[in-house]
Amino acid sequence: MAFLHCVCIGVLLLPWFQCCWGKCIFDKVQRSVKVVSPSISKQNLGHWSVNETARNYQTLITGSEDNSAEHSQRSKRSDRDTFPDPQPIRIKTWIPRESPILSDQEGERLMAAVNEAIIKVSSLLSVIGVPDRLLLNRDINKYCKFIWRNSNTVNYMKCGRANDNYRSESCLDVTIPDEHLNGCFIYPHPDHPIQNVLKPEGAGVPDTDFLLYVFTHSTDKCRTESSVLAYAAHCQTDSVGRPIAGVMVICREHLSVERYTHDHFVQTVLHELFHVLGFSKELYSRWRDCSTSSQADEDCWSYGHVTSTDEMGEVRLYSPAVIRAMQKHLNSTQSDLGAPLENKDAGSDGLSSHWEARVLQGSIMTASLAEPSLVRIDPVTLAALQDTGWYSVNFSRAQSLVWGDGEGGQFGSVSTCHNNSTFFCTGSGLGCHYLHLHKGECLTDQFLDGCFIFKPLANASECWKEQNNSSSGLEAWRGEIFGSDSRCFISNLTRKSHSSSSQPVAGYCYRHRCTGINRYQIQVMDSDWLDCPAGESIKVPDYQGFIFCPNKRLCEFSDLTHTQTQHSCGTCRERYRDKIEEDATHARLNLDVTTVSTLSLTKAEILMQVVLSLSAVFSLLPAAVLIYWKCSSARGRVHAAIEDPYRLELATTSTRTAN
Ligand SMILES: *[C@@H]1O[C@H](CO)[C@@H](O)[C@H](O)[C@H]1NC(C)=O
Ligand SMILES: *[C@@H]1O[C@H](CO)[C@@H](O)[C@H](O)[C@H]1NC(C)=O
Ligand SMILES: *[C@@H]1O[C@H](CO)[C@@H](O)[C@H](O)[C@H]1NC(C)=O
Ligand SMILES: *[C@@H]1O[C@H](CO)[C@@H](O)[C@H](O)[C@H]1NC(C)=O
Ligand SMILES: *[C@@H]1O[C@H](CO)[C@@H](O)[C@H](O)[C@H]1NC(C)=O
Ligand SMILES: [Zn+2]
Repeated sequence: MAFLHCVCIGVLLLPWFQCCWGKCIFDKVQRSVKVVSPSISKQNLGHWSVNETARNYQTLITGSEDNSAEHSQRSKRSDRDTFPDPQPIRIKTWIPRESPILSDQEGERLMAAVNEAIIKVSSLLSVIGVPDRLLLNRDINKYCKFIWRNSNTVNYMKCGRANDNYRSESCLDVTIPDEHLNGCFIYPHPDHPIQNVLKPEGAGVPDTDFLLYVFTHSTDKCRTESSVLAYAAHCQTDSVGRPIAGVMVICREHLSVERYTHDHFVQTVLHELFHVLGFSKELYSRWRDCSTSSQADEDCWSYGHVTSTDEMGEVRLYSPAVIRAMQKHLNSTQSDLGAPLENKDAGSDGLSSHWEARVLQGSIMTASLAEPSLVRIDPVTLAALQDTGWYSVNFSRAQSLVWGDGEGGQFGSVSTCHNNSTFFCTGSGLGCHYLHLHKGECLTDQFLDGCFIFKPLANASECWKEQNNSSSGLEAWRGEIFGSDSRCFISNLTRKSHSSSSQPVAGYCYRHRCTGINRYQIQVMDSDWLDCPAGESIKVPDYQGFIFCPNKRLCEFSDLTHTQTQHSCGTCRERYRDKIEEDATHARLNLDVTTVSTLSLTKAEILMQVVLSLSAVFSLLPAAVLIYWKCSSARGRVHAAIEDPYRLELATTSTRTAN
């Protein structure tokens, strides 16, 4: 796979560039993990009887509620009613003892990114909290050499003899500390309750619903796939199947590089967390319908299968909230409108833990992620998490997924994407990325099954970036203006004074301002503000050619504005802030306007990217080899699981070169 190796030419000339971006190895990693769950039969929980669990819920209520009147009132209710309401999920991180000592900078970057992602997840997902403290389970198949199998005996399914080699529990090369684990016991006699303590019960982790072991290390997986920034897996589930512990491996090499970008790291951690918390093909079969219950376990029932193949051969996820979210998003009444799963990274079971990129482009859970400003925590992904049955999701915090909005149930199919829809493009050419923040080039990638879309140009494509004003030298006769309120418009505008024959149509940057929902004005250099009726094209005085006014893209989604503020941070990259406009009149959806996340945008500085096979790399001039090394050690540009458009462009380049 030639595109995994890359050479970035121009690193010596330009301060910033990005090259190879990683792919998600989650499914591969998760498959290698043996997940530990509580033993099948309740008796097997040993000291964890059902009554005790209920009592612990009581403890939680006692501990967390000051209102003693309400407390005593609740105490009188039945055990079932004592299940508290879902609360924001409490994800605790734990640095395993295997972890190397990190430099201050590495540690700060790591925790800043992980904490931001965790806070984000907690704002989205609520659970019925683990009472008191979280205790993980030991794998009876590991600590036990012999289990009593006669169901007539008192100690049925309990351990009769210890495995002398048993030391500890582990997950993805991380040792789980004894203090996080339940005790385990040996019952030497099948019918006698006498027990020997093999391992005493640990203290547990208080106030925790999910324990995330964050292991920063340059593991073999990091080294063999240099594009992998992080990967993760869940290791333990509770009695209803909800993941309660997992490991996130952060590839250390990407933390210390000069080109580390906080937002890519946050995005990566978030993507992996969603996998680990339930968006995983290993867990689809354990999703539960709790819609008719208050999420008390007894009232939920298993869906059995939530995935199926549709008549087009596409594997889709059919669960109620996902179907509703798809219907709403695509404005379709089709009753069986499941969300399609990625076919290009599907395993032999046909399943993937990612959305199909043709249909849900831009979602945080596609296999290939763009830069953070173009990636959405979309309603379909949140619906999937809701449909796990383990979480209650705050949908008002979903970000609008502009891609495919209102396009109907057939949107994104391979058979229709070549009919130049407003989201897809055909052949090659220049235009606008569908969010209109960037100029785009019509390209495909390995996940698009031959469909083409406008991807941001590798160089100076951001309309909102004022520095791009000086980048082309063409904007004067094009009338282009770059700045925070500029957007990409398809046009062939040229100044009348510019004696040139007819110009090709391409994407250019002009200012815009909203005058209503899907209504806006635009301004080109030296012009007044002009109405730009959505779906039509306009002429501009003193210019020849047209500007095409996009329909339902601008002034339609309130969470898509882009205002930059610059930080002074010496040699580090320029940073921008994604400000979300709180203009309710422009809001079509109920959007999260409180989250203001920092963005770092580096792609403007990419000079050039060339894809070569590794052997070709080493046959280049020594300088090129040096560049290669600089490139491959470049700042944390890689997502755990994620693929960046640049790399996809690289892949395309390689394909085209090969042709
Ligand atoms: C949804 O589709 C219906 C017709 O099928 C149309 O009348 C309506 O305007 C559409 N809504 C949106 C938001 O596109
Ligand atoms: C899409 O294009 C195909 C040919 O490429 C044509 O057969 C089909 O009718 C078109 N569909 C629509 C909706 O235009
Ligand atoms: C990228 O932009 C810079 C100016 O910012 C320009 O000098 C350079 O030629 C451009 N590179 C490409 C490949 O277009
Ligand atoms: C701009 O494009 C339109 C439509 O493609 C074409 O009719 C017109 O001649 C072009 N104008 C110039 C100045 O290139
Ligand atoms: C959901 O999020 C919104 C903010 O977007 C917040 O106002 C609301 O209280 C949250 N709802 C719940 C149930 O947490
Ligand atoms: Zn993934």
